[in-house]
Amino acid sequence: MRRQLIAGNWKMHGSAAEMAEFDALRDALPDDAPDVLVCPPATLIQPLAARAGRIAVGGQDCHPEAKGAHTGDLSAEMLREAGASAVIVGHSERRTAYGESDGLVRTKAEAARRAGLTAIVCVGESGEDRDAGRTLGAVLGQVRGSLPPDSNGENTAVAYEPVWAIGSGRTPTVEEIREVHAAIHATMRETGADGVRVLYGGSVSPDNCAEILQIEGVDGVLGGDVSLTSAKFLPIVEAAA
Ligand code: PGA
Repeated sequence: MRRQLIAGNWKMHGSAAEMAEFDALRDALPDDAPDVLVCPPATLIQPLAARAGRIAVGGQDCHPEAKGAHTGDLSAEMLREAGASAVIVGHSERRTAYGESDGLVRTKAEAARRAGLTAIVCVGESGEDRDAGRTLGAVLGQVRGSLPPDSNGENTAVAYEPVWAIGSGRTPTVEEIREVHAAIHATMRETGADGVRVLYGGSVSPDNCAEILQIEGVDGVLGGDVSLTSAKFLPIVEAAA
């Protein structure tokens, strides 16, 4: 049985107000809380890690290389030094806005592993893929292309995030989520991956989290908007406790 992971992606939101939300979440964590991870903008990794208690702190992206002439980028090693224990790679917003390919995402996941971070590798079909009946093909293609070999539960988690569900208030049905998670787990077993958690992400809310978390093959969730407010994120943590 894999331990549940409840992760939050703050995206490009992060001010003093959100620091207070982090503190409130930390102070209210139940004793039997699952693993909780918050990924703030990189500027907040260090201050949040210094006050994190049982919450793990992660980055939202990293460069494949450890150092070099890459203006504006951060390496996995730098995130680690700032206090991160994980990093999201291949989020659909980056795949879309910066044209990140599966191959690039894989090198980022390898960089995370090199630095001792858990890579949260995001995959998910577009609305067009879903409508055309290509969901499994699209998602499993990303899984095969983006995950380094020999991934395990320590160095890797996968986040299945249908692109059309992110920020839209729409989610797949329970059966659709179950089908995709089962297919991802099966594909990872074929590649020798062992114990890798598969999270669901995309419009997770306090209202739908309990139903999503009980789906077979769902080992936690990755929330965006909902993770910015402790009053909304805490019920999700509690639902997984
Ligand atoms: P959302 O975002 O929860 O706001 O839909 C999820 C994500 O992008 O990881």
